[in-house]
Amino acid sequence: MCGIVGYLGGRQAYPILIKGLTRLEYRGYDSAGVALIGEDGSLSVYKTKGKVKDLERICAGKDLSGTVGIAHTRWATHGEPSDVNSHPHYSENHNLALIHNGIIENYQALKTELTRQGYHFQSQTDTEVVIQLIQYMMDSRKVSWEAAVPLALNHVVGAYALVIMDKDEPDKMIAARKGSPLLIGVGENEYFVASDASPIIEYTNKVVYLGEEQIAVIQRGKELRITDLKSVEQTPEVQRLEMSLSEIEKGGFPHFMLKEIFEQPRTLRASMTGRLHPELGTVKLSGVIDNRERLLQADRFVICACGTSWHAGLIGKYLIEELTRKPVEVEYSSEFRYRKPVLFPSDVVIAISQSGETADTLAAVKLAREAGAFLFGICNVVGSSIARATDTGCYTHIGPEIGVASTKAFTAQVTTLFLIALSLAEEMGTVTDARRVQLVSELQRIPDKISKILEHDRQIADLAKVFTYARNCLYLGRGYNYPVALEGALKLKEISYIHAEGYPAAEMKHGPIALIDEEMPVVVIAPRRGNYDKILSNIQEVKARKGRIISVITEGDKDVKALSDWSFEIPDTEECFEPILSIIPLQLLAYHIAIAKGRDVDQPRNLAKSVTVE
Ligand code: G6P
Repeated sequence: MCGIVGYLGGRQAYPILIKGLTRLEYRGYDSAGVALIGEDGSLSVYKTKGKVKDLERICAGKDLSGTVGIAHTRWATHGEPSDVNSHPHYSENHNLALIHNGIIENYQALKTELTRQGYHFQSQTDTEVVIQLIQYMMDSRKVSWEAAVPLALNHVVGAYALVIMDKDEPDKMIAARKGSPLLIGVGENEYFVASDASPIIEYTNKVVYLGEEQIAVIQRGKELRITDLKSVEQTPEVQRLEMSLSEIEKGGFPHFMLKEIFEQPRTLRASMTGRLHPELGTVKLSGVIDNRERLLQADRFVICACGTSWHAGLIGKYLIEELTRKPVEVEYSSEFRYRKPVLFPSDVVIAISQSGETADTLAAVKLAREAGAFLFGICNVVGSSIARATDTGCYTHIGPEIGVASTKAFTAQVTTLFLIALSLAEEMGTVTDARRVQLVSELQRIPDKISKILEHDRQIADLAKVFTYARNCLYLGRGYNYPVALEGALKLKEISYIHAEGYPAAEMKHGPIALIDEEMPVVVIAPRRGNYDKILSNIQEVKARKGRIISVITEGDKDVKALSDWSFEIPDTEECFEPILSIIPLQLLAYHIAIAKGRDVDQPRNLAKSVTVE
């Protein structure tokens, strides 16, 4: 949450910062701000409640010259979205400016003490205490701001990625990180700082990922210097970015979400590339091969994740249990980390996270590490915190996902979980060679089957208009399609703001059935395989109460179709792959309903893509 970008070099900073903020806006978009040191040595801060375009509006006509600057797009934690709570924040003497992503947990104690020392606070944010604390260290210990930064950070409890400027030293910027991501782009006589690579990619592909509790001193015309919080010098490790500019542009689609839905045939192939041997029915995953013994010794698997990744994890449970016969538990990271979970050194904890930065999942990983469990990460963002905090893992390789509502990450996570389950099954001998060949061959057909579903986009868009005025919606599924019901409902509520609930279809009788009347759309995920007859009965129960049925059915199915008011067909597939197909019409349905309601689908209210605070 919150996007950070900074620039120091020979070019004008403002256009680079604004473009960078626009790319980082998915991380938070309730307010935005920029600070620049001008040629005359003045430090100007412009900030506003609203989006980056609102910031641009208030900056119009101002003197925005300067070759050093920092900028921020915010997702509020402490203090409502307002002009004054927006970043950058100043220090008491207005010499220092700071942007921050994360949460300062002991801010209240620090604020009370600093107030007692005569420092004045303008905002309700936790962030402002950091810059005041740095100023306090400078004032009380008579040290430079560079020396004051580690002194101050040693008193801070919580998570931060931050960048600071001092108007008295316009050739320097200081960045620091603990818990929240930050990377430094190294160009020709110029440096960039950002929360992720997207603001940097068109200028340089050389980056340094700042490590935990590291401070970077960035100076014009000098080598990058990195120290830890005790001021011990560290060696910067320059890495090459693999990302391309086209991956972070809309490519002719009106929204990132729609682009990402349509990308799924390609992204699914990318998740499988180089990993399948169809003739042998085998899967090659280095994360599994290199840790074979450890994984085979596991008595159980514990999956930790949040949001959509948790839904993928639930499908992972079904996959791993079916294919390996090992028990799997699926945990919300936020619950797991605080409830003293029972963990054994023989456990394998699988952390699933698109961003690799979700604070609760990262904390769950750290907890599992302390318990001695083996840690396996399924992440999309290469080099992300969770990818680095786990013992091994598997990237989903789908390129950046920018739409706040996760789509292509979900199908890639399910695919990756299948690959892990099948490679374990091969090692354990729990699935015959012939069956593995069947499954791998079918998996290879899935991208084409998704393309076929996507051809019905217009039909789904037409149906979406009917539901623009729905106030509630129920999603039902069984077996592998129960997590799809949860995910379909999540997609609808997060972008259309229509209340939606996902339920295991049979559980409907234990409560939700009371809600059903002729006003209530009920989406039933009812493909042909697995529990088909049972779900048919559930549909009858809804019909008997005049509920309106929208079904996701296997091509050619006449029975569920006859009972439904509307149906979307998906090609037939193995039961374990049904979720990858059945979620596609539900992603499109949510998208088109949200569009029909005039919602901002890529940046829905109150949400953020990367939840780096707990
Ligand atoms: C946020 C995002 C969701 C995502 C969840 C977990 O809520 O809006 O799309 O599923 O975080 O994120 P992760 O990056 O850990 O998969």
